Amino acid sequence: MASNEHLSGHARIETSNFLMIVLITLVVAVGGLVEIVPLFFQKSTTQPIEGLKPYTALQVAGRDVYVKEGCYNCHSQMIRPFQAETLRYGPYSVAGEYVYDHPFQWGSKRTGPDLHRVGGRYSDEWHRAHLNNPRDVVPESNMPAYPWLAEKTVDADGIPARMKALRTLGAPYSNEEIAKSVEEVKGKTEQDAVIAYLQVLGTARSAAKLAPAAAAPAAEAAAPAADGKTQ
Ligand code: HEC
Repeated sequence: MASNEHLSGHARIETSNFLMIVLITLVVAVGGLVEIVPLFFQKSTTQPIEGLKPYTALQVAGRDVYVKEGCYNCHSQMIRPFQAETLRYGPYSVAGEYVYDHPFQWGSKRTGPDLHRVGGRYSDEWHRAHLNNPRDVVPESNMPAYPWLAEKTVDADGIPARMKALRTLGAPYSNEEIAKSVEEVKGKTEQDAVIAYLQVLGTARSAAKLAPAAAAPAAEAAAPAADGKTQ
């Protein structure tokens, strides 16, 4: 065609790079906003689920150890709503479980198992042995050993500032809780802290709480995992 003058309507748009770029940007932007904006206002994504508590001082310290040591490079914390996942890990994760997680630890790499429902699955002693040398409890494990966590003590004086920062992001800590946080973590090792953190993961929405009647069989079904063989 000789010139744009003879074109009209859609043909005009399709033959103009400029118009195409502007209009595509507009359509994608509006489509994206329509999907994303409501999430900021939906209760199911912004409100904590029933029974969810903000992390205690020791758990906050443990979470920092988890991030510092890069555990998220091998472990996700998000169980997807598929049978293969729920049979293995327990109830699938929901957004309201993460409202006190800043930053969230969803992860995307699963060299090791998902950890979102690991709370209460093993004893503290199992975790100690496992962190000191995973091969002692899971012979085929290729997880690195973290023996130094048992020797390093937690930076207790830094905890109040961390809790205050979390409070500005919505965790409902009282002044009293923050004031006694130093006392709570003083002298604890990084291993104590990370275990305290692992033991609370996913417990607000455990299988037992979702279906109290089925709690006993569920606990039995989880038991074989305690020998570490069903990774
Ligand atoms: C290089 C990858 C890698 C890193 C980094 C890693 N892990 Fe693991 N983790 C694994 C693998 C693989 C397994 C499965 C074998 C086993 O149980 O040791 C595992 C298993 C676990 C389990 C048992 C989970 C279950 O359901 O049986 C826990 C708890 C755990 N890791 C915690 C941690 C913590 C805490 C850190 C950081 C201090 C960490 N891992 C870092 C690879 C890793």
